[in-house]
This record gives sequence, structure tokens and C-alpha cells, in this order.
Amino acid sequence: MMRLLSAAGCGLAVINSAFAAPGKYGIDRTLRFTDNGTFQLALFNDLHYGEAENLVWGPQQDVNSTRVTNSVLDNEQAQLVVLNGDLITGENTYKHNSTDYINEVVQPLLERNLLWASTYGNHDSDFNLSRHNILQREQTWPNALTRQDVSTPTSGVSNYWLPVYPSSGDADVPALLLWFFDSRGGNYYLQTSASTGESVPQPNWVDQTAVDWFTETRTHLCSQYGRDVPSLAFVHIPVNAMLAFQQSQNDTGVRPHYEPGINDDDPLAQQGYTEGQGDVTDGNAPVFTYNGEDVPFMQALLDTPNLIAMFSGHDHGDDFCFKWDTQLPGMSLKGNGLDLCFGRHSGYGGYGSWIRGSRQVLVTEEMAKEGVVETWVRLETGATSGSVVLNGTYGQDYYPAVPDA
Ligand SMILES: *[C@@H]1O[C@H](CO)[C@@H](O)[C@H](O)[C@H]1NC(C)=O
Ligand SMILES: *[C@@H]1O[C@H](CO)[C@@H](O)[C@H](O)[C@H]1NC(C)=O
Ligand SMILES: *[C@@H]1O[C@H](CO)[C@@H](O)[C@H](O)[C@H]1NC(C)=O
Ligand SMILES: *[C@@H]1O[C@H](CO)[C@@H](O)[C@H](O)[C@H]1NC(C)=O
Ligand SMILES: *[C@@H]1O[C@H](CO)[C@@H](O)[C@H](O)[C@H]1NC(C)=O
Ligand SMILES: *[C@@H]1O[C@H](CO)[C@@H](O)[C@H](O)[C@H]1NC(C)=O
Repeated sequence: MMRLLSAAGCGLAVINSAFAAPGKYGIDRTLRFTDNGTFQLALFNDLHYGEAENLVWGPQQDVNSTRVTNSVLDNEQAQLVVLNGDLITGENTYKHNSTDYINEVVQPLLERNLLWASTYGNHDSDFNLSRHNILQREQTWPNALTRQDVSTPTSGVSNYWLPVYPSSGDADVPALLLWFFDSRGGNYYLQTSASTGESVPQPNWVDQTAVDWFTETRTHLCSQYGRDVPSLAFVHIPVNAMLAFQQSQNDTGVRPHYEPGINDDDPLAQQGYTEGQGDVTDGNAPVFTYNGEDVPFMQALLDTPNLIAMFSGHDHGDDFCFKWDTQLPGMSLKGNGLDLCFGRHSGYGGYGSWIRGSRQVLVTEEMAKEGVVETWVRLETGATSGSVVLNGTYGQDYYPAVPDA
């Protein structure tokens, strides 16, 4: 059913109002604030299942990663799990069963009847692994809210949005929107270069067609709901503002008591990153050199009223949050107070041995209206780390430093 809507400040837009399809699935797929007005997300990034599957240590790593997920979920009460990229290490898996690892990734979520939503990372695409096939596999379970809303040849897969409704009241208007973006990367499925015989690299930033979809959809939703609903965003590879911040302030960069978190990937690898900071190579030659590829995406984020924070993974050795509220050195864009955060490396796969964990994000309906979220890392050990409030004074508030471990 299509209808015409208009609302002050949002322009005029045609909206497909038949969004939800309840009844088709055995579980309630509607995201809602709890009766006490809270909504909590548990973010797992860089799980990297499927490494070295024919050796002893590879499968052991995956058993360990499942232990991390179970431990975190036993200690937290999340309404949604976000799998924020690099679910699988595609360069190590076989074509005939590469997406079978998804069964292992989601087992702890199925056991708890939890809903989940994914973004895909650079390791989720390789000669033997297709992010389209990962999506298909995910969608065999009703718990998967992951979708593909943009299907251009360059868009990637995991670009979509989800509404979170209030615990009660006007059920037609969400209290929070969640945006998921695909920063692509890795290598194209079953493609080899005619000249080198090597796999064919995929660009590692959010594509222009996904940015265009985002800005159009945002405008439509504003018209439909009559307001700019507060929102959070998720993307695997961080944007360049995070690198610019890390490298700013004469290399004091991330301050232990003001942006508490580990900061060991320095310089960090951002969207469009260059050889030496990342792994996008064709043979030995760097194929992507940072040249502002993510500027349209960052501009669209800054143009989104009431976008509170965006969460990334990818750099396993970083788990800080910072408030982007200045024009950082080397950047043409000026931040508007958007908070940008890393999650904690969750998997035993992938580089690094920092204590594994999962970033938690808690918001109440009241906090969403004020543009505030609370966030901390729940470690595999059961301890918490780096608990902060992303409010108007984040970046000036003094917090305990996070151990570099
Ligand atoms: C699995 O976890 C145990 C306990 O932390 C650790 O001793 C072992 O090295 C890990 N194994 C692998 C392959 O990561
Ligand atoms: C609100 O509900 C959630 C989920 O049931 C629970 O984890 C949390 O502790 C509750 N918070 C308060 C303040 O009661
Ligand atoms: C892809 O997987 C197949 C088995 O399904 C295997 O024979 C082949 O070596 C793999 N190729 C790469 C590039 O990993
Ligand atoms: C995929 O196949 C390989 C080789 O046959 C095997 O070692 C591995 O355990 C399989 N992976 C899964 C998830 O079944
Ligand atoms: C960085 O150092 C330069 C030269 O010493 C100085 O002019 C500038 O104010 C410093 N910037 C910050 C943010 O400390
Ligand atoms: C932000 O949160 C911190 C930590 O709870 C608090 O100390 C600070 O006063 C808050 N700032 C505002 C503007 O509420």
C-alpha cells in the first residue's frame, strides 16, 4: 500500500507503509524498548570463524569464540545482538561449506531466542565466500533481521535500517532507528584477475549508491514519522574521522581518561585505507590509496539530524569512543558532535590477543530524545571495561583509564 505523506521540515515523500510482516515468523521480530523503558544492544565484531579449519588450532579458536559469546550474553540482557562484520575469515574457508560457519556463529543467539542484525566486513567476501550467501544463510532463521535494501552492482549487501518501537503508546512511530551499512572490502566471490591470476579486490568503503539510498530513505522516514527519529549506526570499517582524531593533538591522540579504551592500532585502518595500514592488495601492489572515498558517507552522517553515534570494528587493537565535534587536521568536514566508537575484538580468530569482549549500548526512550547513550565493554572474564556516557560533555568528562590488555 502506498500513501502520500508530508511533515514539517521533511518535504513530501511516498512511503511504503507495509513495512512489517508479522505472523510470518514463529517469533516476534519487532524491536521494542522493554517495559522499564530500556533498549540494550550487544555488539560482537571480528569473530573471524573458520580460520585454519584443517589444523588443530583453527576449530579450537571457534570453540573459544562461542565461549566468549555465551559468557557475554550470560552477563547482559540485550534485546538485540549486532554482528558488526568479519563473522568469517573468508580467505581460509572452502567454497563447498564456507557459510556453514554461520550456524556456529548464531548458535548462542538461537539458544537464547535472541534477534540479531549483521553488517558484513572485508573478511566476509573472498574467492570462496560470498556475503550474499551469508545473508541467505542468516535468513533461514526468523531471528535474523539482516536485510539487503540496496542491490546495485557496487552497493555491497548489508545496507538496511530497523525501527525500535516504544514499550507502549503510539506504536506507529519508532523511538529509535538503527542504520546498518556495508563498507565492503575483501575479494570478489569466484573472480580471478585475467592478468595476475589473483583474487579481485573489492573497494573498502560505503558505496555512493548506498549513500544515496541512505539520504533518500532518511528523508522518506522523516516524512512518514513526522520527525527525525533519533538513530544509531553500524559499519564494520571506521570512517576517516577516527584516524584523523587518533592522529590529532600532536600525537597525544586518544586520551586515556577522556576517551578511555585501548588504542594499540595506531595508525588505525579506515575506509579506503592504504597498503601498510591494511590488507587490500593485488599481489604486492597497493590497490586502494586513501583519497577521501568515505567523504560522501561522512557528509551524509553529519547531515542526519539526531544521529547519536556510530559503531565500528575492524581495528582489533582499538576500542575507544570519541566525540567528533571539530574540524580535524587534514579533513574538509567539520564534526557536529556525532560520537564514533570501536567495539572490542570479540573473536579468537583474527589478529591480536587483547581480552575478548563485546561493546554494550544502552539507551532509554528519554535518553534517545536527548541524544545520549550509555556504553561499556563486557569482557569474556565477566568484568566490564570503559563504561562511559556519550552525552553532551563526553570528551570533557574524566573516566578511569582502560588497561591495555
Ligand atoms: C582457547 O582459549 C583458551 C583459554 O583462554 C586458551 O588457553 C587457548 O590458547 C585458546 N585457544 C586458541 C586456539 O585460541
Ligand atoms: C530494564 O529491563 C532490562 C531487560 O529486562 C533489564 O536488563 C534492566 O536491568 C532493567 N533496568 C531497570 C532499571 O530495571
Ligand atoms: C575454494 O574451495 C575449494 C573447495 O570447496 C578448494 O578446492 C579451493 O582450493 C578453494 N580455493 C581457494 C582460493 O581457497
Ligand atoms: C568444511 O570442510 C572442511 C574440509 O572438508 C572441513 O575441514 C571443515 O570442518 C568444514 N567446515 C564446516 C563448518 O563444516
Ligand atoms: C601542536 O603543536 C604545535 C607546534 O608545537 C602547536 O602550535 C599546536 O598548538 C599544538 N596543537 C595542539 C592541539 O596541542
Ligand atoms: C555526562 O555523563 C557524565 C558521566 O555520567 C556526567 O558526569 C556528566 O555530568 C554528564 N554531562 C551532562 C551534560 O549531563
